[in-house]
Amino acid sequence: MDATPTFPQYTVPMALLPNKRVLLGVSGGIAAYKSPDLVRRLREAGAEVRVLMTRAAMEFVTPLTFQAVSGHPVYSELLDEKAEAGMGHIELARWADLVLVAPATADTLARLAQGRADDLLAAACLARRGILAVAPAMNQAMWENPATRGNLRALESAGVTILGPGHGSQACGDEGAGRMLEPAEIAQRAAALFETGGLAGRHVVITAGPTFEPIDPVRGLTNRSSGTMGFAIAEAAVEAGARVTLVSGPVALAAPQRVDCLVRVETAMQMRDAVMAHMPDCDVFIAVAAVADYRPARALPRKIKKDAEQLSLELVRNPDIVAEVAALPRRPFTVGFAAETDQLEQNAQAKLVAKGLDLICANPVGPDTGFGDGATSLLLIDAQGQHPLPLDSKPRLARALVDYLARRLHEKEDSAQDPRSAHRQ
Ligand code: PMT
Repeated sequence: MDATPTFPQYTVPMALLPNKRVLLGVSGGIAAYKSPDLVRRLREAGAEVRVLMTRAAMEFVTPLTFQAVSGHPVYSELLDEKAEAGMGHIELARWADLVLVAPATADTLARLAQGRADDLLAAACLARRGILAVAPAMNQAMWENPATRGNLRALESAGVTILGPGHGSQACGDEGAGRMLEPAEIAQRAAALFETGGLAGRHVVITAGPTFEPIDPVRGLTNRSSGTMGFAIAEAAVEAGARVTLVSGPVALAAPQRVDCLVRVETAMQMRDAVMAHMPDCDVFIAVAAVADYRPARALPRKIKKDAEQLSLELVRNPDIVAEVAALPRRPFTVGFAAETDQLEQNAQAKLVAKGLDLICANPVGPDTGFGDGATSLLLIDAQGQHPLPLDSKPRLARALVDYLARRLHEKEDSAQDPRSAHRQ
């Protein structure tokens, strides 16, 4: 009889972890030999991966191997002056959207369950902001031991995700549960942790980027928006299970993976037409684009010559796209953004009311802040009050925003169905 266990074949669809930062913690077990392949799988799925090793792990695989496959130096010491001067251990833990410990030995599980912080792996798990998942790997008797069972229960009740283990023949010759899952399956399950399902079955339309309003064939009016925030929100909405239509002004970004439809436009008028064409079955509209409020009254057919000492440009108002959407008879849940250089809260509050929005996301902007791929902050304002999202990366803010608006959307729908709410209206 063939004793070789069979495992389901997992192929990770490309880019299921786009823009995700994964900190892979490798602890000292024989299964560590599979972890370089896991790094490769995670990177193939679109993640940026940094590796952290315990001393025991270095007995099985060299840091050089992980450095080669991850493309980054490997972290191992808690109190390493050189490493702390680069990305310190707290910063490293906070950098990660997902801390993934694979393999997680019985000793590592015990230490994490106790909340220890006396080596880099344990400290990073304790200081993390994102998700923590562990892929146990140990001898079957250790796995079955009540002490390990108790540690697993403690970790699960602390919100830690346990991936596996698998069942089969073990390096020590035993047969049973305790094998680390195969790298492709771990990568697949890691990606699934981001699939929240909060907007499952919904059609979400998002505007992103600047608009460009032509003055003549070579010049135009535009602004500093790069499209990063809108594209990150599109990705977060896809992860939440939505069908996403992204209407973008001119940006240098590649189409986000798994977005249903990307419409590239140039002007505010084109953006408005594209948005309105998708309104009939739209459930949520998120206006992230920095739309030009005015456009030249006429785009001249020939390049303006430098003859006159002075030149006046006649501008006319552009339609307010988000206000038009909010005024539709069957309106979607409507979210606006407010980019403010001063009086963030007051100006955003005024726009929430004036445009008739369900929610507004206020963000501070200036020549060096708010635009592009740097960190920023958001202040969400709606009828419930204020909900600040402190300084963070745009992908992470995007996920927090989508999570918040999905909850508000469900509450709004529930209260519309509640017969008591009819009396309140
Ligand atoms: O693209 P990035 O570099 O990542 O930068 C992101 C961002 C700073 C552009 C983004 O976070 C942001 O704040 N977008 C809104 C910018 C803006 O134009 O704000 P506003 O206060 O001028 O407009 C308020 C709201 O009305 C916005 O939702 C806007 O999309 C919408 N609007 C404005 C004018 C118009 N004619 N039609 C609109 O729909």
